[in-house]
Amino acid sequence: MMDVKILPSLLAADFGRLAEEIKRAEASLADAIHLDIMDPHFVPNISFGPDVVALSKKTAPGFYRNVHLMMDRPDLYIGKFADAGAETIQIHIEADCDLHDTLASIRRIGLRNALVLNPETPIETFLPYLGEIDEALVMTVHPGYGGQKFIEECLPKVEWLRKRMPDLDIMVDGGINGETAVRAAAAGANMLVAGSYLFSKRDMALAVSQMRASCADGGRP
Ligand code: DX5
Ligand code: ZN
Repeated sequence: MMDVKILPSLLAADFGRLAEEIKRAEASLADAIHLDIMDPHFVPNISFGPDVVALSKKTAPGFYRNVHLMMDRPDLYIGKFADAGAETIQIHIEADCDLHDTLASIRRIGLRNALVLNPETPIETFLPYLGEIDEALVMTVHPGYGGQKFIEECLPKVEWLRKRMPDLDIMVDGGINGETAVRAAAAGANMLVAGSYLFSKRDMALAVSQMRASCADGGRP
C-alpha cells in the first residue's frame, strides 16, 4: 500500500496572517508545507523569498519545508534557501543552469533534490536525470498562479514515470482538489500539493484526512 503525502501550498494562504496560516497547515496534520518561490522571468508573477521560508521554520520548526523554485537561475540561490531552512529544493528542468551540477549541489549540502516539469515539456527530457533525483514534480497547471484548472493531459507523464521508477517520490502540483487528487494518485502520484483547495477550507484537517483516505493505494477502494 502506497500512502500519499499532502502538502498545502502557502501561496493560497491569507498573507495578512502568514504565521497563523503556517500553524493551521501544520495542525491539519499535512505532511509538509509547499513554498512557491517565483521570479518574474521564469513565470509572469512574483511571490516571496527566503524570508518566508525562514518564517515557516521559526513558526513551525518540525513541519517539513518543501521549496519549489520557479526561477531561471535556481543555482544562484540554493545556499540562501538552504540557510533559510529549506529541506527539499525543487528546480525546473526548464531552468537556465547546469541541472546535473545543481541537483548534485542540493544533495551535497544534505538536502533532498527534485526536478520539476512544466505542462508543455515532454517527459522524455527527464531521462538523463532519473538516477540523480530524490523526487519528481509533474506540474498540472502552468506555473505562476494558484487557483488554476487542473490539466488532465499531464497525467500520462506521471504514469510514464511511475512505470520506470516504482520507488520514486512523484508529486503533482496545480489544480488539485478532492477529485483531481484521486485521478493523480491513480496515475501513480504519491505526493499532492494543494493550495486554494485546502486553504479555502474552514476545517483543513478534515480536508487533508479525506484526501489522504480517498487517495490511499492509488485511489482504489
Ligand atoms: C503554481 C504553484 C502551485 C500553486 C498551486 O505556480 O507552483 O504550487 O500554489 O495552487 P492551487 O492548488 O491553487 O492550484
Ligand atoms: Zn508549487
